[in-house]
Amino acid sequence: MAHIPVLLNEVINDLLIRKGGVLVDGTLGGGGHSRALALHAEGPITIVGLDRDASAIKTAAENLKDLDAKIILKKSDYRNFESVLIDYGIKKVDAFLLDLGFSSNQMDGNDDGQGRGFSFQRAEPLLMTLDDSPKDGDLTARYIVNNWDEKNIETIIRNYGEEKHSKKIAKAIVEARKMGNIDNSLLLSEIITRAVGRRGKIHPATKSFQALRITVNDELGALLETLPKMLEFLKPDGRISVISFHSLEDRIVKTFGKNNKTDLKILHKKPVIASAEEITSNPRSRSAKLRTFQKISS
Ligand SMILES: C[S@@+](CC[C@H](N)C(=O)[O-])C[C@H]1O[C@@H](n2cnc3c(N)ncnc32)[C@H](O)[C@@H]1O
Repeated sequence: MAHIPVLLNEVINDLLIRKGGVLVDGTLGGGGHSRALALHAEGPITIVGLDRDASAIKTAAENLKDLDAKIILKKSDYRNFESVLIDYGIKKVDAFLLDLGFSSNQMDGNDDGQGRGFSFQRAEPLLMTLDDSPKDGDLTARYIVNNWDEKNIETIIRNYGEEKHSKKIAKAIVEARKMGNIDNSLLLSEIITRAVGRRGKIHPATKSFQALRITVNDELGALLETLPKMLEFLKPDGRISVISFHSLEDRIVKTFGKNNKTDLKILHKKPVIASAEEITSNPRSRSAKLRTFQKISS
């Protein structure tokens, strides 16, 4: 199923971009948010769209091609946005958007149906990289579950999955790998399910998969490192909007706002969440939280 942008109207309300303004969409995905922001802007704008996934860039290029906008798309981690701006002679930015995590397209697999291990219901290669063509030596979930020691696996599952059964799960993974490599996502999800049992609506492997994905892609590190850099590039009155999907990310975003109170106005006291209608039509929006900050003009 094609990715549906979450909290779209809420993002449009927060990021009204002036004619000639620059939007940096650090998590371009299929370009749904960028497209809507360009259509609602006060005139033609420049979109700098970044994604670690080349297939996302390809989808977005198609989706954005009819816009009256200057469009710069790059396969890049958003933590490197600065070098892209320098390459294109862009000194200041009107709006930054981060819509974190992975898209439904990545969950569903590429055009050829080949997934990357995000699904615990299909036997996919256990990569969990946001990059669709990881290089030899890049960290993968397969490497972690087959090589890391039990304590380290337990630590990431506890800290990044907030999983209370982390100890049991790490032990089960290390036991299972003695029988042979754990090399697909279905096998890993079965090992976890056997270790903790099935209860409630949420799949028992959800939190462990989240932890592996966060670790493989250094998702929290990227966010922590990049938010302060975005502030440096923001024009006076410019805005940063971040949509996060779990409490670890949201905590980083909230703390960034608190730590920069002298430079930033916090637009919403509480994060904006999806309406009941949006959650019904797009269950992915259930855990989305939007926070927006505006640079105080001095
Ligand atoms: C939730 S999707 C974005 C969807 C997009 N807003 C839309 O409307 O289609 C998140 C995207 O961000 C990308 N991504 C996540 N972390 C990234 C990072 N550190 N640098 C660049 N892209 C990243 C993922 O590859 C994925 O395509």
